[in-house]
Amino acid sequence: MTVTLEKSVEDFIATPRQLFIGGRWVHAASGKTFATPNPATGETLANIAEADAEDVDRAVRAARAAFDGPWSRLTASERGRIIWRIGDLIDEHADELAQLESLDNGKPLAVARAADIPLAAELFRYMAGWATKLEGNTIALSVPYMPGAEFHAYTLREPIGVVAQIIPWNFPLLMAAWKLGPALATGNTVILKPAEQTPLSALRLAEIMAEAGLPDGVVNVLPGYGETAGAALAAHDGVDKVAFTGSTEVGKLIVQAAAGNLKKVSLELGGKSPNIVFDDVDPALAIPGAANAIFFNHGQCCVAGSRLFVQESRFDEVVEGVATIARGIKLGSGLDPDTQMGPLVSDEQLRRVTGFLDSGRTDGARTVAGGNRHGERGYFVEPTVITDTSPDMAVVREEIFGPVVVASPFSTLDEIADQANATTFGLGAGIWTRDVSKAHALAKRIRAGTVWINCYNVFDAALPFGGYKQSGWGREMGHEVLEAYTEVKAICTQLHI
Ligand code: NAI
Ligand code: MG
Repeated sequence: MTVTLEKSVEDFIATPRQLFIGGRWVHAASGKTFATPNPATGETLANIAEADAEDVDRAVRAARAAFDGPWSRLTASERGRIIWRIGDLIDEHADELAQLESLDNGKPLAVARAADIPLAAELFRYMAGWATKLEGNTIALSVPYMPGAEFHAYTLREPIGVVAQIIPWNFPLLMAAWKLGPALATGNTVILKPAEQTPLSALRLAEIMAEAGLPDGVVNVLPGYGETAGAALAAHDGVDKVAFTGSTEVGKLIVQAAAGNLKKVSLELGGKSPNIVFDDVDPALAIPGAANAIFFNHGQCCVAGSRLFVQESRFDEVVEGVATIARGIKLGSGLDPDTQMGPLVSDEQLRRVTGFLDSGRTDGARTVAGGNRHGERGYFVEPTVITDTSPDMAVVREEIFGPVVVASPFSTLDEIADQANATTFGLGAGIWTRDVSKAHALAKRIRAGTVWINCYNVFDAALPFGGYKQSGWGREMGHEVLEAYTEVKAICTQLHI
């Protein structure tokens, strides 16, 4: 059984989609198109114009014209009101957007409706408020080589300019919101490149943003591939900043490409986040918590709790509890209301994740739940729990980005602090205990951007998110993200002249 698609969704996917440049829908300069598949079946869902370098040039020109022109002439309040309206329109079209997201990405419709879409709306509204609250400082000067001189010195916080934003496929609309909200609130203009696997909701968002009153050219949307459109954006001399979310490997390529004109860079990359369960905690809380930490969004979360550590005396109980949940999860199409976990996003991800499952077996780890592809159609993988690992195994070291958790026991706080940090990543961590002093002592020692205590996967537009180490540069959300989208200008006036 599947839900009936809204008429607007059927029409949207039936119409070949174009690029959105300068407020207009246009064909790619090359005339090329690409197909986005339905991950539940592998069949083509929709055809989309494929942007490349020439389209990037056009979009950069449009973004520059909007930055120099209409966008910079709006008051902060007018800017904020448009951004707020984008949030409200997302809510108005929530059912439709949730269906598009579920179709294109594979996630259960109910999850898109309860999490992705409202979080995106909230993000825009939170950021709308910042538009009127960007402030500089006045600063007292004491210049030693100008005795007696007096100054009036202050700072202005200004937009960086034309920003390229390259986003992934795991939360397509939400990642667009995380990127666009702060860029717009601070007065930048944008070229957004959605992931080639999931371009649909960003294209619908372009229509919504126009309806909200965003001037032409302020946001341009260029669906296309990373190696072509993405690389051209990251390297373009007319782009002042690039913001990227995706693999650590591509994050490093972005940094190299950005070096040409030393554009500003912010990165939100991969993770291998530890989720740590102490033996004092109620297993009825920790077991579903640990399962949610890894299985939410089919494990396709940069911050997935993919390394589960359980204190020795409860190890078997917690691992068996998570394995029991894993075995009971109902896999199916995201549009089937009974589905608890949908397919992975693509054939490529299916092959990556099953490759890790094979490598775990070859390396001698034990699979206690799942471990295989599910079915023959679509890109489904069984929720998987692996034990008996060693620290050098690929399943322990590398980001799998699928519903696969590796579990191991620990004994002391010192030992677990070291193990938690024994990774090149530093995105998130979970701690489950009733002992507040233990929780905060460990939270302080963990080298990661987010630490959740007795919860996991709690996101809020007000809570900054980002990575230590190779998990990224800079923070998204919260007021911290404003730093990533503004330049600070110091202005110094000598008085009594
Ligand atoms: P990816 O990093 O290749 O893709 C993310 C985005 O970057 C997409 O929009 C893509 O078109 C673009 N891109 C790819 N190559 C580019 C290049 N050379 N220059 C500019 N843009 C480029 O991720 P992919 O291949 O989809 O997934 C591979 C692995 O990456 C996953 O298995 C997972 O481990 C990790 N990943 C992490 C994400 C996160 O949220 N941190 C999100 C997606 C993937
Ligand atoms: Mg890739």
